[in-house]
Amino acid sequence: MGRLTAPAIASKKVRAGDDPLVMVTAYDAPGARIASEAGADVILVGDSVAMVVLGYDDTLQVTVDDMCHHTAAVARAEPGCHIVADMPWMSYHVSPEETVQNAARLIRAGAHSIKLEGGRKRLPMIDRIISAEIPVMGHIGLTPQSVHAMGGFKVQAKHAEHARKLLAAAKSLASAGCFALVLECVPDRVAAMVTDEVDIPTIGIGAGSRCDGQVLVYHDLLGIEDRLVPRFVRRYADLRAVSVSAVSAYAADVRSGAFPSAAESYRMTDAEAGELDLCDRQVSSREMRW
Ligand code: KIV
Repeated sequence: MGRLTAPAIASKKVRAGDDPLVMVTAYDAPGARIASEAGADVILVGDSVAMVVLGYDDTLQVTVDDMCHHTAAVARAEPGCHIVADMPWMSYHVSPEETVQNAARLIRAGAHSIKLEGGRKRLPMIDRIISAEIPVMGHIGLTPQSVHAMGGFKVQAKHAEHARKLLAAAKSLASAGCFALVLECVPDRVAAMVTDEVDIPTIGIGAGSRCDGQVLVYHDLLGIEDRLVPRFVRRYADLRAVSVSAVSAYAADVRSGAFPSAAESYRMTDAEAGELDLCDRQVSSREMRW
């Protein structure tokens, strides 16, 4: 099966008999190859790169340059997945002209579409991006770029009034032409209501099982990031523990002289060694420490 296009994704609804969409983040070529080989439908080059790769406490620190750098790395791997790139904070807040230019940079870096956060107030910018023929994925509920305005990373739309507003935002994004919608950290019943009421696919993260797809952050699902494990993360591996143990074994081997072995070293012919008067020099692993 070929790579999904934005229009193909837009028509995927579980209620119409489609399989749920599988989206996973990736930020570099090895991650993109793994996601592709694992059969993910969509790779999100998320601004979560700020937290899980670049060591920041929130996503507000990454720039369009950063996102282009990571998007290009993912694209160079030529994954068989649709690539969505996140527009970082302040790249779509200032003017429509700047917004379209920034979206275009992400497409030129290798993305097939972009994602941005927020509801109705983003409609003018979304309209301009779509007018430039760039497909847009929406993102509502917990929008991490609003961490300060929201007062922290908190579950959203827990009250009926807020759930109604979320539904109105979802409908407005769908009417504006978004091809899919991320719902982050909202109660499962609210996500189900939105999923039933819009015709584009919903992709949930912390939004229960009744979405048209799911997304997880690569480093969370592989257990590379284990400092904070939100309730919605399922860890499918413990790569951090595996990695610490592998690097510890390497460190021990270097210190004992067990690494590198002769098989892991390059050889000079006896004739060449003779020229250098090195013929009877035996290189043991231990000697290679100098
Ligand atoms: O940046 C990201 O990883 C995201 C997902 C949490 C949806 O936006």
